[in-house]
Amino acid sequence: MSAKLIDGKKVEQITMDLLKKDVENWVESGNRRPFLKVVQVGTDPASSTYIGAKTKACNKVGIQTDTTHLPDTVSAKELKAAIRSFNEDDKIDGILVQLPLPSHLSSHDVIESIDHRKDVDGFHPMNVGRLTVDQPTFPSCTPAGIFELFRYYSIPVKSKHAVVVGASNIVGSPMAIMLSRENSSGKATTTICHKFTRDLTTHTISADILVVAAGQPNLIKPEMVKEGAVVIDVGINRIADETSEKGYKLVGDCDFEGIRKKASWITPVPGGVGPMTVAMLMKNTLLAAKKSIYFEN
Ligand code: GUN
Repeated sequence: MSAKLIDGKKVEQITMDLLKKDVENWVESGNRRPFLKVVQVGTDPASSTYIGAKTKACNKVGIQTDTTHLPDTVSAKELKAAIRSFNEDDKIDGILVQLPLPSHLSSHDVIESIDHRKDVDGFHPMNVGRLTVDQPTFPSCTPAGIFELFRYYSIPVKSKHAVVVGASNIVGSPMAIMLSRENSSGKATTTICHKFTRDLTTHTISADILVVAAGQPNLIKPEMVKEGAVVIDVGINRIADETSEKGYKLVGDCDFEGIRKKASWITPVPGGVGPMTVAMLMKNTLLAAKKSIYFEN
């Protein structure tokens, strides 16, 4: 078998075009243009790159945005005071604090200080909790993007055995919740594996859908994958590559060339899951502006 390629760039473009129309309709109906506030603490170059991509996406779909830069010496009190002012600002629909934060700051504490009605990352315990009890919420963007890919390619999920490798708060854990619950289009029998899992292959080999978000290049090898499985590789790892101008190349967590001979569908890295994450952030920001999830009485 040779796997069909899941083209995240193509689906991102289609999704962004639809979102642009939705934003324009919203504005033409007399509403204020949605606004996303981004907060960057420090000057981590990877964070700056991610924020650059988010700003560009906002410009594409017609969402207003700006980034507040705070020094990496900022205290928790100062950061939370800034977030409080954004919570109270009616012109701000979505708030995103770029992670990771410097080690003296607790990301849990900072995320909880964001008004959950503006938490477009879907990281606030209120939104994670609502996801868990199958209530409307801001879903975490990467898992939501993966579900858009399933929908676009008509990949069935219901009643399949889905195995998620990696249990992070950003990807693995919300992905497993969405796969397993009823309302979030999942309805799959779901196994979640993590760094304490013994004999990973026992689990991965029985997966109809294998989602890998472990941050470890070459973790998943062909012999760990069932013939005909759908393989979603969320990993983005930089590995040294002298032939490349940058001196590195991006690879996922899976042995792509080996696994594509066995799988039915596979995401490439780059160009698979990655592009969808930012598109889902745009979708959540529009939902926040429309107050589609939390109604104001
Ligand atoms: N750092 C890595 N991924 C993310 C993300 O999706 N949102 C935020 N806020 N920070 C991140």
